Amino acid sequence: MMIYVWFLTCFWFSLSSSQQYYDKTLCSSGTNKPGTRYTCRSSRNPCETFLVYRVNDKFRTIARISSLFSIDSDIIVSINHNVSASSQVLETGHEVLVPVLCSCTGEFSQANFTYRVTEDAALSEIACGVFVGLVKSIALAEENRLAENNNVVAGSLLRVPLRCACPDNLSGSDGVKFLVTYPFVERDYTLKVGKKFNVSVEEIWKANHMDPSPTPTVFPNTTILVPSRTNLS
Ligand SMILES: *[C@@H]1O[C@H](CO)[C@@H](O)[C@H](O)[C@H]1NC(C)=O
Ligand SMILES: *[C@@H]1O[C@H](CO)[C@@H](O)[C@H](O)[C@H]1NC(C)=O
Ligand SMILES: *[C@@H]1O[C@H](CO)[C@@H](O)[C@H](O)[C@H]1NC(C)=O
Ligand SMILES: *[C@@H]1O[C@H](CO)[C@@H](O)[C@H](O)[C@H]1NC(C)=O
Ligand SMILES: *[C@@H]1O[C@H](CO)[C@@H](O)[C@H](O)[C@H]1NC(C)=O
Repeated sequence: MMIYVWFLTCFWFSLSSSQQYYDKTLCSSGTNKPGTRYTCRSSRNPCETFLVYRVNDKFRTIARISSLFSIDSDIIVSINHNVSASSQVLETGHEVLVPVLCSCTGEFSQANFTYRVTEDAALSEIACGVFVGLVKSIALAEENRLAENNNVVAGSLLRVPLRCACPDNLSGSDGVKFLVTYPFVERDYTLKVGKKFNVSVEEIWKANHMDPSPTPTVFPNTTILVPSRTNLS
C-alpha cells in the first residue's frame, strides 16, 4: 500500500515536473516561496499568452486597462466578447482577458511592464491593488532593488514582472495552448475557474504542482495557471 501511494505520488509529480508551484501567500506578502515568481528554462520562451485582470475602482474601462498594459484597446475589446466598447464602464470584479508576451529572464518567467506611480503608495498597494495580485510585493521590490516595505513616490517608474508561463514540451504536446494567469478572489475555487476555462480541476492542480489529496485549498490574492486548450483570441 505504501509503495503504491509512493508510486502514485512520483508518477503525479513526474508528469508535472516542469510546471509551476502554487504560492498560497498573499500578494502583499514579503516572503519568497516556490511560485512567488514562476521559473523557466529558456526553451520555448517567449510565448504569447493571457492573464486575467479584474476591474477595480481605478481601472474601470478597457481604455484604462489597455493603457496600463500598453496595448491597443481594440485588441482587448475583440477578445472579451461581453465588452462592447473601450469606454464602457465595467462592474467591479469583471474579468478581462489581457494578451501579454511572456518571456524567460533565464531564471523567471514574466511579462514585463513599466508602471508610472500616480500617487505615493506602498508596494503592496501596487502589487495587490493596481495589478490585482498578478505580482507579489516582494517581486516588485526585487525587480526594482527596493526594500520590500518601501513606499514609492508619485512619478517614479517601476518595473513590473507579472507572473506568466509558457507551455513546456510536455503540456504543449498534450494540446495545451496557453497557461492563463488567474488571480483568485474571495469565494473563488478551482472548480469554478475550471468551468470558466473548460478544464478539469485535476489538470489545474497538475499545472500548479498542487497535491490532489487532500483537496487543495486556494486563497484570495494568489494566482494559479489555467492550462487552456481553447484558442482564446
Ligand atoms: C464575461 O465573459 C467571461 C467569459 O465568457 C466570463 O467569465 C465573465 O464572467 C463575463 N463577465 C460578465 C460581467 O458577464
Ligand atoms: C524583462 O525584464 C528582465 C529583467 O528586468 C530582463 O532580463 C528581460 O530581458 C526582459 N524581457 C524582455 C522580453 O524585455
Ligand atoms: C486582497 O487585496 C485587496 C486589494 O489590495 C484587499 O482589499 C483585500 O483586503 C485583500 N484580501 C486579503 C484576504 O488579503
Ligand atoms: C522542447 O522542444 C524544443 C523544440 O521543439 C527543443 O529544442 C527542446 O530541446 C525541447 N526541450 C526538452 C526539455 O525536451
Ligand atoms: C471542453 O473540453 C472538452 C474536452 O476537453 C471538449 O470536447 C469540448 O468541446 C470543450 N467545450 C467547449 C465549449 O469548448
